[in-house]
Amino acid sequence: MTDQPRGDAHEDTSPQNHNTSPQAPSEIGAIWDDRFATNEWPTEPDGPLVDHLCGVTPGSAIDLGCGPGRNAIWLARKGWSVTGVDASAVGLNQARLRAEADGINLELIQADLTTYQPPPKSFDLVVLANMHFSPEERTALFERFGAAVKPGGHFYVSGHHSESFGIAGPPDIERLFTEELLLELLTGFEVTVERHERRTGDGDIVIVDAVAWATAPHDDQEGQGVQ
Ligand SMILES: C[S@@+](CC[C@H](N)C(=O)[O-])C[C@H]1O[C@@H](n2cnc3c(N)ncnc32)[C@H](O)[C@@H]1O
Repeated sequence: MTDQPRGDAHEDTSPQNHNTSPQAPSEIGAIWDDRFATNEWPTEPDGPLVDHLCGVTPGSAIDLGCGPGRNAIWLARKGWSVTGVDASAVGLNQARLRAEADGINLELIQADLTTYQPPPKSFDLVVLANMHFSPEERTALFERFGAAVKPGGHFYVSGHHSESFGIAGPPDIERLFTEELLLELLTGFEVTVERHERRTGDGDIVIVDAVAWATAPHDDQEGQGVQ
C-alpha cells in the first residue's frame, strides 16, 4: 500500500511510506529521498485539482508536500506563482530540474511540514495532496495550512479514503480520510467533498480517494458561519 498519487499503477503497503510521525523529521526526508531516487513518480497532476481550477484565475499557490512537483509544475505552467514545500531534497531537486527544463519558475523550500508555518492569508490556493498525517497532528496542521489561504481563496485537499484501507495509502486507517473528516477539518470554509474512484494495476483494483475543495470566507464574511 502506498502514498502514491492517483494515476500511479503501483500500490504498496509498506509502513515506511508514512508521511510523518513516528519518524523524526530528518528521517522523513531521507525515507522519501530514497523513494524518489529509486522509483519513477507520476508527473500528471491530480485530476480533481485540474477540474476544480477550470475557470479560476491564476494567482499565488503553495503546494505543501509537493514531492517531485507534479501539481506545482502543472500550476506554474498554467500561470500560477508557485511555492513548493517538502522534506525531501531529492524530490525538490527533481521538481527543480523539471521546472528548469520547462522554463518555468518554482520557489522550492525544504522544510518539515509538522513545524513549517506558511505566511497567513498569503495564497490564492493551498494544495495538500496525498498527505496522510496522524490524528494527533492533523487538526493543528489543517488549521495552520488553512490560515495561509487568502480571503476568498481555495484550499484543495486530496488523499486516500478509508475505503482504500488495505489497498492503498498508509497501513494505518486513522490517517486516511472520509468525507465527514474532511468537513470537520475544514470548518470555517465553504466546502465541497467528493469521493473519487480510480482503477490501478491491471484495472481490477479500485482505489477510493477523498477530495475537498474549500473556499475561505471573504474578510467581511468571517465569523458569519460560511460553512
Ligand atoms: C505521497 S507523497 C505526495 C507528493 C505530492 N503531494 C503528490 O501528490 O504527488 C508525500 C510527500 O510528502 C513529503 N512529506 C512527508 N512528510 C513530510 C513532512 N513532515 N514535512 C515535509 N514533507 C513531508 C514527502 O517527502 C513526499 O514528497
